[in-house]
Amino acid sequence: MVYTSLDALDFQFSDLPSLPRPNRVVLTTPTHFDVEYVINPHMSDNVGAVNKEVAFQQWKALRATYTALDVSPLIVNGRPGLPDMVFCANQTLPFYQPEQDRRGVVLSRMHAEQRREEVPYYGEMFAEQGYAVETLPDDLDVDFEGMGDAIWHPGRFLLWGGYGFRTEPAAYEALSELLDVPVVLLELQDADYYHLDTCFCPLDSNHVLVAPAAFDDESRAIIEQGFDTVIEAPDEEARHQFACNAHSPDGKHVLIQEGCEGTTERLRAEGFSPIELDTSEFLKSGGSVFCMKQMIW
Ligand code: ARG
Repeated sequence: MVYTSLDALDFQFSDLPSLPRPNRVVLTTPTHFDVEYVINPHMSDNVGAVNKEVAFQQWKALRATYTALDVSPLIVNGRPGLPDMVFCANQTLPFYQPEQDRRGVVLSRMHAEQRREEVPYYGEMFAEQGYAVETLPDDLDVDFEGMGDAIWHPGRFLLWGGYGFRTEPAAYEALSELLDVPVVLLELQDADYYHLDTCFCPLDSNHVLVAPAAFDDESRAIIEQGFDTVIEAPDEEARHQFACNAHSPDGKHVLIQEGCEGTTERLRAEGFSPIELDTSEFLKSGGSVFCMKQMIW
């Protein structure tokens, strides 16, 4: 079932089957990371502007942070000619079906031509690791950008699905059938927030961090229905420092771009412990912590 309005929500979030937290993280080496083309507004002044040495140091700090939090990294090698492959949240949607005790991934269909060749590398890797590798129906010509736009509700078997710039709504109809999961759609309305993970960051079952400007009134109302507490990031921090492209691996710590002072203050007030990381080289491409990792079961 796919839900597109507040009125349509015919279930209680607390009644949904529970979902364990994924406990492994996929990270892709930034060896070939660069800004070589422009497919989102953040990239426009940054072609050729990546300092690869600095990018590598920033990536290593991210890897060390996951390791220190006991989330063991599975490392994928970036490939030449695929400068965005480092954003490993986008090529797949990992899933765990609690009722079947079944884990796998659904492969993405990238909107941008330049990114399409990234997907099979992840498909091969997940198959080698023993995951079921699923695809959307062959006869469905639709864009789908994995966890850039499709985000699990922590602890519940429910997906939040962003659309408007990359993933198309029809992809969620197919996903809902394929995984037998409810999907709640959120329309994105501001090109700076081109993926759902740029403006919507569920921290645990009850708390979500959002950039309000990314959504219309209806979507904001749906989000309030889904979480007890909605933490709003200041727009400057969300738009330019990717404050909402954060990640809480454990419902306590929040990995977030450094310098998002208003956001970290609000996170602390709600009992979270921010861990600030510098992802400035990756911001040049329109990504930060959330999209530089993929959590798997
Ligand atoms: N340059 C990449 C793109 O535009 C960045 C992707 C960042 N990923 C994300 N989920 N926000 O596709």
